[in-house]
Amino acid sequence: MDMDIDPPVKTPHDPARPDASIDIAHSLDYWNGVSSDVNGMLGGYPQTSRIDLQGSSNFLTKLRRGKTQASKLPLPPLERVADCGAGIGRITKGLLMGVSKRVDVVEPVKKFTDELVQGLGEEKVGMGKVGEVVNLGLQDWVPEAGAYDVIWNQWCVGHLTDAQLVVYLRRCKEGLRKAAEGEETSISWVVVKENMSTDIRHKDIYDEEDSSVTRSDEKFRRLFQEAGLKIVATEQQRGMPKELYPVRIYALRPE
Ligand SMILES: C[S@@+](CC[C@H](N)C(=O)[O-])C[C@H]1O[C@@H](n2cnc3c(N)ncnc32)[C@H](O)[C@@H]1O
Repeated sequence: MDMDIDPPVKTPHDPARPDASIDIAHSLDYWNGVSSDVNGMLGGYPQTSRIDLQGSSNFLTKLRRGKTQASKLPLPPLERVADCGAGIGRITKGLLMGVSKRVDVVEPVKKFTDELVQGLGEEKVGMGKVGEVVNLGLQDWVPEAGAYDVIWNQWCVGHLTDAQLVVYLRRCKEGLRKAAEGEETSISWVVVKENMSTDIRHKDIYDEEDSSVTRSDEKFRRLFQEAGLKIVATEQQRGMPKELYPVRIYALRPE
């Protein structure tokens, strides 16, 4: 029973603007109550982690090889990447440390990054090391300008409103490494990998449990455009259980 004399006024859910219901404090309460393991990160589907990481690894390799797709030569390590909304570092350890010398970790829930940092001594994970660990939500994180080869955002941008996401993606754009002298174009990307709305009218879906929205492909494309980013590659993740939302990955570059 609510004993407050003045209970907080709850904004009624507006079906026309699902993201207006996002409540950061509620999301953080939810995530602080979740176990610091892969099962907690993946909502009771830990078995999907392997296929997700494999799909991401293949996608990133294709992206990096570009036109020289046929080459079998190993790719050189990236210098610096960021894992955003990283949780316990499932992607940091399972993918990014294998391809980059340094992985910065951005995650608002400290118990998750504590778990990551404690585990690092025990296991040898790839060639890279964890750099900065930043306990902030993405709405508050400002990537260092020109610093990153890849800014990876997976299963977390649903915690930002549409307006916050556009502003955040603009900062990510500034955070990408610029072309070095002699390089025709820089090779750096913002990656977004998220669930897709299955609403028949392509509406975004609000989830009360963790206070997040699941956006449609159309909505993502519109927000990327507003942020001044273009899609250079995108594909649907294969092999996920049928009862889950479809998952799509996008690689983005400045327009
Ligand atoms: C479904 S988990 C995904 C974790 C990781 N990206 C992965 O794929 O294993 C969602 C993560 O988003 C984090 N999160 C919640 N609100 C956030 C926010 N405002 N900004 C960034 N991350 C947030 C949660 O704490 C949680 O670690």
